[in-house]
Amino acid sequence: MDASKEGQSAAEMILDGSLFVRACLRKPVDRTPVWFLRQAGRYMQEYRDVRKHHSLVEICKKPELAAEVTITAAEKLGVDAAIIFADLLLPLEPMGLDFEFAAGEGPVVHHPLRTAEDVLALRTDRADALAYVAQAIEKVAGHFRDRLGVIGFCGAPYTLASYMIEGGGSRNYIETKKMMYRDRIAWSSLLDKLVTVLTEYCLLQVQAGADVIQIFDSWVGSLSLSDYREYAFEASKRLVRAVQAMGVPVIYFGVETAGLLAQMAQTGADVIGLDWRQPLNEGWRSVGATHAVQGNLDPITLFAPLEILEMRVKEVLRSAGGRAGHIFNLGHGIVPTTPVENVQAVVKMVHEFRLEDAHA
Ligand code: CP3
Repeated sequence: MDASKEGQSAAEMILDGSLFVRACLRKPVDRTPVWFLRQAGRYMQEYRDVRKHHSLVEICKKPELAAEVTITAAEKLGVDAAIIFADLLLPLEPMGLDFEFAAGEGPVVHHPLRTAEDVLALRTDRADALAYVAQAIEKVAGHFRDRLGVIGFCGAPYTLASYMIEGGGSRNYIETKKMMYRDRIAWSSLLDKLVTVLTEYCLLQVQAGADVIQIFDSWVGSLSLSDYREYAFEASKRLVRAVQAMGVPVIYFGVETAGLLAQMAQTGADVIGLDWRQPLNEGWRSVGATHAVQGNLDPITLFAPLEILEMRVKEVLRSAGGRAGHIFNLGHGIVPTTPVENVQAVVKMVHEFRLEDAHA
């Protein structure tokens, strides 16, 4: 707690949280907060300039650089929250799996997990090797103070397990589901190990000043509802609850999740991320009024002419209907060739939208 807050009552302190954190907690706000998944990335010249001299992993491991990239993107866009620059796969390394980002191909894990012995060999005692992410968060939180929300993040157990087993992105998740269906003990042990490491990783981030943690279950939409319930839900729920016990709200996000939303909400996450495949109010209905939602513009709408873009942005805002607990975002990440000025235009549209107009 900083000195300026001494003497305030608990209620006053809750009131002065950032706009973004207030929305996560479904507290009233005078305008809808906005930020973007993958807001720091190759679509931005400033990021490409840094990437000329450093690899992705190098940026992540140098707190000074990771903080600079995080801050530059958030300030250039004028958003209400800054997500720390890092990657979902970083925890794999201290667990004993090496990976690299092959040019244009996404992540490649060198020796993917296939057997119970591989799972047994994974280490869970080295999460402190990820302290460089916490150091970057400290710098970002020190820079923004209460002006912006600072978001720490990690992958969800299922999504990280899929990278560890497939060795990279996947279309059908055959190897992942083979282990899941055929070796229940190895599968459970893998998810348990991930929850252990991710909990400690999130604690480092919260202690360093993250206001909110987002858990990315990016590929959970590859599961049927029955399989999600049977094989992935419990581990996600444990992670969500463990992070909430650290005193911060949790955003739980996945893609192609229309059929899973009600169950995802059962993790108890404060905010559920929605993709763009159904109207926001329908997703919110599935999630339930007891949770906030984040979303859900199609990221490719950022390539549309401004009139169409504006129509779709307002559609999302009207669909939220001015209810407390909406954070404007995309339904998935910004892609590399997106025009930056259109992203900036969306921030302006969201900021200028009056909640009273939600019913117009
Ligand atoms: O502002 C931000 O959001 C940037 C921080 C960030 C990165 N990765 C940096 C990055 C975040 C939040 C992530 C999360 C992440 N990483 C996810 C979850 C988000 C989602 O999209 O669902 C996933 C699935 C990954 C794994 C990953 N990392 C993939 C699949 C790729 C390749 C994708 C691509 O566009 O090539 C990466 C690489 C990556 N991570 C890039 C960035 C900016 C782009 C590559 C680069 O700079 O060389």
